[in-house]
Amino acid sequence: MRRSVDRWNPQKKIIAEAARALVRGELVAFPTETVYGLGANGLDAEAVRAIYRAKGRPSDNPLILHLANPGEAESVAFVDDRARRLINLFWPGPLTLVLPARTGVVPPVTRGGLETVALRMPSHPVALALIEATALPVAAPSANRSGRPSPTDADAVEEDLGESLAYLLDGGPTDVGVESTVVDATGKDLLLLRPGALPLEVIAEAEGQVGLAQAGEGRRSPGTRYRHYAPDVPLLIWDGPLHWEALPGPVGYMGMADPPRPAGESVLFRTVDDYGRGLFSALRHLERAGVAVIVAQWPPQEGIGLALRDRLLRASGEG
Ligand code: TXA
Ligand code: MG
Repeated sequence: MRRSVDRWNPQKKIIAEAARALVRGELVAFPTETVYGLGANGLDAEAVRAIYRAKGRPSDNPLILHLANPGEAESVAFVDDRARRLINLFWPGPLTLVLPARTGVVPPVTRGGLETVALRMPSHPVALALIEATALPVAAPSANRSGRPSPTDADAVEEDLGESLAYLLDGGPTDVGVESTVVDATGKDLLLLRPGALPLEVIAEAEGQVGLAQAGEGRRSPGTRYRHYAPDVPLLIWDGPLHWEALPGPVGYMGMADPPRPAGESVLFRTVDDYGRGLFSALRHLERAGVAVIVAQWPPQEGIGLALRDRLLRASGEG
């Protein structure tokens, strides 16, 4: 059931109903500041299995537990001083920390069979109200079918997962548009597993060097092994010379600069932050517009740009 929620003042009755559904083991989609999440009780193995089924997600790709209070991290993971510092600095917000799991508390299916667990406290008032009302850690991947662009509004969630949901809380379009930054904090050095909404520079400024996970690395994030964010039509990255005249038409374009040739359908962004906010919905829009190929301008690397580059590489099949 789709319900509109006032994001600044979420209606208590709607939140309570959706929270009860989660406690019963059902699925609820809700907005976060990054993208919409597909939530289930993260401590209930059966409920978590329903997430994997609804998304068509490989069972070895673990989920993020979403918390309403920083203190709850201790009940599901082992939190050392460094992790506590990061939590104090960046929660609520788009930083996901991978920590050693309390394996007796967090079921293996939530962790994708790993000994670690990913945690984040979102800053979106609707997400916080919902999680708080369940008094549970809420497991929530992005609310798209596996391999599809992440949903940044309720229509995209409905398109992918409508049938599987007890509730879809519609809080309008999300603020950031790309997913949280995932950092492995289990080893000697912090390791970036997925660039995301919290810029790497900001974490590095607070904590010093953050390593980049290399392909094949043991601590690499399982999710990065799978093709992701794939639109139904080929995506090309525009980073200098491109034989536009040789492209099959109609061409769909997205970027910050005007395309060098008129495109059949284009989405222009004013800033790199706008690009981040609009990337996933632009992919869905261009695909729906029936273009034969999508050309996406390569963004600068700073800030959200690193995450955008990562998502574009994956969407193009090169990531
Ligand atoms: O912004 C976000 O993070 C959104 C919103 C809904 O919170 N969620 C999200 O979840 O993007 P998902 O499942 O689409 O991506 C989670 C990523 C995956 O790449 C997964 O492999 C990784 O986090 N991950 C989860 N648990 C992990 C663990 N224990 N070790 C390493 N990577 C983990
Ligand atoms: Mg996802």
